[in-house]
Amino acid sequence: PLTAKINDKNHLEIGGCDVVDLVKQYGSPLYILDEKTLRTCAIQYRDAFKEYYPGESQVIYASKAWSCMAIVSILASEGIGFDVVSGGELFTTTKALEMSGYNGDDIKEKIYLHGNNKSIAELELAIDAGCKIIVDNWLELETLAQLTAKKEQSAKILIRLTPGIECHTHEYIRTGSIDSKFGFDLNQLEAVFTFIKEQNFIECIGLHAHIGSQIFELEPHNDLGGVLADWFKKALDYGLPLTELNVGGGLGIRYTESDDPPSIADWVKTVATAVTKACEERGLALPKLIAEPGRSMVATSCITAYTVGGKKVIPDVRTYISVDGGMSDNPRPITYQSLYQMAIASKMDQEHSETVTVAGKHCESGDILIKDIQLPDTNPNDILVVFATGAYNYSMASNYNRIGRPAAVLVNEGESSLIIRRETYDDLVRQDLLPTRLAQ
Ligand code: LLP
Repeated sequence: PLTAKINDKNHLEIGGCDVVDLVKQYGSPLYILDEKTLRTCAIQYRDAFKEYYPGESQVIYASKAWSCMAIVSILASEGIGFDVVSGGELFTTTKALEMSGYNGDDIKEKIYLHGNNKSIAELELAIDAGCKIIVDNWLELETLAQLTAKKEQSAKILIRLTPGIECHTHEYIRTGSIDSKFGFDLNQLEAVFTFIKEQNFIECIGLHAHIGSQIFELEPHNDLGGVLADWFKKALDYGLPLTELNVGGGLGIRYTESDDPPSIADWVKTVATAVTKACEERGLALPKLIAEPGRSMVATSCITAYTVGGKKVIPDVRTYISVDGGMSDNPRPITYQSLYQMAIASKMDQEHSETVTVAGKHCESGDILIKDIQLPDTNPNDILVVFATGAYNYSMASNYNRIGRPAAVLVNEGESSLIIRRETYDDLVRQDLLPTRLAQ
């Protein structure tokens, strides 16, 4: 985080709070979210669009990266909208916005519902809330036509297309190439436009595409501008009154020193320039430009703090140190072989003299947070921190081994406040029921 520094005790400090003290107060593992960094990322996105895009724009946060009420409230106060992909994310977002004093119209203007298999209940929730729906496929389009006609209530939609753009990222998080479960193939679009024209309660306001995540190249986003503008023009020719173009998210972040992503400003400049140029070339008025960053909005504002346990030295092979969390609070290393930077928050002055493998506490050998990293010599009860854990950590956390999800605390200018409570043992059995015949 931007506010990280080493204090006079040689401890790591974030948002003016000593990380070792935070763990004493809130326990570990602990997600520590720095409000200043989060706001700075939001402001960088918002201001870059103002600077580089001559038309109207809206940045919406991809909630899947980390949806919780505090983050929604903070981002909303910076003018950010929300991409939600489930009834649960929609509920969290609308509840947080209501509790933060936003009124109904403000709310629906800025929420977009995504998903490749939205349930009828989710679609109804979105129609009733009046938020915009990004339609992914034929079944959904037909269902939506029926639901809106039955309710006699119109819905604003965007059509998600598969742009056929390849980019270099992990195959699980690549979404824009032809072989993708998301979106309409380009050769289906004219039939889609014809279908929408015949519906009375569906208002198609735009097009959407997303090419993947943790992307360092700018070229694919440049190419996307042309593909979207082509289809935007075609939709207008079909008589659909489109006004919005949504270019998705995908900007990568620096997890380790060898990662070299473009800045938020450079990414926005590329996207904004590509769309402006593509529209000008085709004689189109500039649409409202939407982008939906997730990772690059939240990842760098959070660290996870763990308490170190035992050390296992296997001579000439490897030294393991164990921490009190692991794949349940950060499933990214085991899922995507993701790498992270780490430090010992209680020993920031000490040299990184030992090569260790940091193991989680879960019952499987693959639960390793990182292999062979250089750290200071550790003892039990040292506090190990992992950097840049704001995206896809809490949101992908599980209760594997019946371990409760950690707490999250927001820090700013020396103050900390709990934003997510630690799950208790009672929380773990809250949904369990004994069949009546077995209960005493
Ligand atoms: N829009 C759509 C339609 C998406 O599918 C995604 C991410 C985003 C926006 C935000 O992309 P971002 O700015 O965060 O790259 N769990 C994986 C990442 C999955 C991304 C899924 N979609 C990970 O931990 O790396």
